[in-house]
Amino acid sequence: MNLSVQGMRIAVFCSGNGSNLQAIIDARDRGHITAKIALVVSDVPDCFALERAERAGIKRVVVERKAFRSKKEFEKEILKNLEKEEIGLIVLAGYMRMLSPDFIRQYPERILNIHPALLPSFKGAHGIRDAFLYGVKITGPTVHFVTEDMDAGPIILQSAVAVMGDDTEETLAEAIHKEEHKIYPRAIQLAIEGRLKIEGRRVRIF
Ligand code: GRF
Repeated sequence: MNLSVQGMRIAVFCSGNGSNLQAIIDARDRGHITAKIALVVSDVPDCFALERAERAGIKRVVVERKAFRSKKEFEKEILKNLEKEEIGLIVLAGYMRMLSPDFIRQYPERILNIHPALLPSFKGAHGIRDAFLYGVKITGPTVHFVTEDMDAGPIILQSAVAVMGDDTEETLAEAIHKEEHKIYPRAIQLAIEGRLKIEGRRVRIF
């Protein structure tokens, strides 16, 4: 990956609460993320993430799936916005849609995602609950590159969270989110600085 530190522009994709977006904004404010957060993209018109973006003065765009006849046209509209903003890195932060292989090919090794379980365990939309109900003693978030298969791209960072005897799904979720907010900005900055090298399934950080 060859991304310049200077002038990099990122887009954050959200569908909901946007606590990871907030962590990214806060990291930028502290100088821990050096790229410009040029755009927030959402497929849900009234999600809280959009309010967070507005408060931070970040340009927002809502692209709803139902406004387009096909997924291809829907994604074309998103791509148009990304091109207009000269986006160099896409950060998925609670974006609840799968990107098509065609879309992913437009941004090779330049799309990141955070998943709330230790991949490759507990892929899918309910990673926290599935791990909790399975009874694991250790879980935690994973930041990875996005590839065509869901939650299967090369892993950048993970963080371990111990499941305590008195944890509920809610308290566990809280602990996992706290870790997400630490590792996602860190992984994003590594990508911004061009310090990630994919070697097969492994990501070397240098
Ligand atoms: C996070 O748990 C993340 O791991 C998953 O979706 C959730 C988004 O939360 N992909 P938020 O919208 O950032 O608060």
